[in-house]
Amino acid sequence: MTTLTVDELRAAIERELPGVRADLEALVRIPGIAFDGFDFAPLERSAQAVAELMRGVGLDVQVSRIGDGHPAVIGRRPAPPGAPTVLLYAHHDVQPVGDLSKWESDPFEPTERDGRLYGRGAADDKAGVMAHIAALRAFGCGTDDDRLPLGVVVFVEGEEEFGSDSLPGLLEKHKAELAADVIVIADSGNWDIGVPALTTSLRGIVNSFVDVQVLESAVHSGMFGGPVPDALTVLCRMLATLHDENGDVAVPGLVSGEAAPLDYPVDRYRAEAGILDGVELIGTGRIVDRMWTKPALAVLGIDAPRTAEAPNALVPVARAKLSLRLAPGDDPKSAYQALTAHLEKHVPWGAKISFEFEHDGNACVIDATGKYFDAARSAFATAWDGTEPVEIGVGGSIPFIATFQEMFPGASILVTGVEDPHAKAHGPNESLHLGEFARVCLAEALLLHNVAEAAKS
Ligand code: BES
Ligand code: MN
Repeated sequence: MTTLTVDELRAAIERELPGVRADLEALVRIPGIAFDGFDFAPLERSAQAVAELMRGVGLDVQVSRIGDGHPAVIGRRPAPPGAPTVLLYAHHDVQPVGDLSKWESDPFEPTERDGRLYGRGAADDKAGVMAHIAALRAFGCGTDDDRLPLGVVVFVEGEEEFGSDSLPGLLEKHKAELAADVIVIADSGNWDIGVPALTTSLRGIVNSFVDVQVLESAVHSGMFGGPVPDALTVLCRMLATLHDENGDVAVPGLVSGEAAPLDYPVDRYRAEAGILDGVELIGTGRIVDRMWTKPALAVLGIDAPRTAEAPNALVPVARAKLSLRLAPGDDPKSAYQALTAHLEKHVPWGAKISFEFEHDGNACVIDATGKYFDAARSAFATAWDGTEPVEIGVGGSIPFIATFQEMFPGASILVTGVEDPHAKAHGPNESLHLGEFARVCLAEALLLHNVAEAAKS
């Protein structure tokens, strides 16, 4: 078998892009959300759609789940003798869409505006799924002229956005089939439009709920108000202890570190996050430390009466959802203990509180040295016309990575992805930069090519 050249792969990606785009749009139309309380039928459909895409590139496909977990899709083809195997990871589930009125177009009707494709999951992470398919199509996989020089396993998870509860079980169950020399995780992003990146550190996460109870039920706020600490006031006082006066997380016992010396100007951070003029940044240290290697604690939601319907009654119970992001090196279990101990210590006025754990995931750090990382850097530089990739951290979490590091300590883990600073993943009007997506697809095809070459050395 003759291998494809860089120019041939470039032409092949060019040829495949329209079909890849159409298939991406079809995936975006399936609202597969793994959060409790959602209709899970679309996740079954999106797993089937992903399975079909994998069959189309000649993979041997199975849809797999653990218990009542959501469907993951695994597609495989063995390596030719002596060649390495690459595992390609992405996820097909998406985040909920939130307030629909904030979307400029239907989240599940992909729409192009100014070179970007809008829709929930258009970037995170259905474009990751399609980047893998695009790379395999570029090699002619599934056709009579199939020139893929290595083995692949494509693993597309169905509940990443809800904490990957079944992932350890899935990895255990399919351990032998998933073994690989190189793992490509297309679920992160690039440093900027026009500047590729390899992600080498991700934060861990602990999501949990705290409940406050003070009264048997709501009572007249005029008749009883005064001596009663209402549940929302109690909750607010507790939440107010989570940060110190500088805005650093005040929970004792959490790990903090320092990020790589990358300059992320404050103005850029403010603009990309959309922070209003006059609103100060909280915490101390460089922006990259605060985003990537220090803990962060946010209140994601509160269950309480809606203001429009709130009667003149004292609120008996309230619930908050907290999200604690952890620096690499911290441990989710001990961090959860530290958080609950801190809150227990700060309950005012003898209110009753209780906790509910939602999910957690480990942080990770990747040592980006060795021939496969060099192969990736060179692929990225070629796909971005000579611009070398930057090594970045991200503040988000991909629990899969730490699990995989433990299970296959010898594998090189390349964390790539399609997101750019304007992708608005998890928010309204999520979108994919189509020009950058084309480069990501090319980079992945070149990466497979380079990995096969590097394995020979
Ligand atoms: N694609 C993100 C991870 C990510 C976030 C990469 C930011 C690069 C920058 C992933 O899909 C995600 O959002 N993960 C969840 C994990 C959680 C549910 C355990 C997250 O970080 O909130
Ligand atoms: Mn993702």
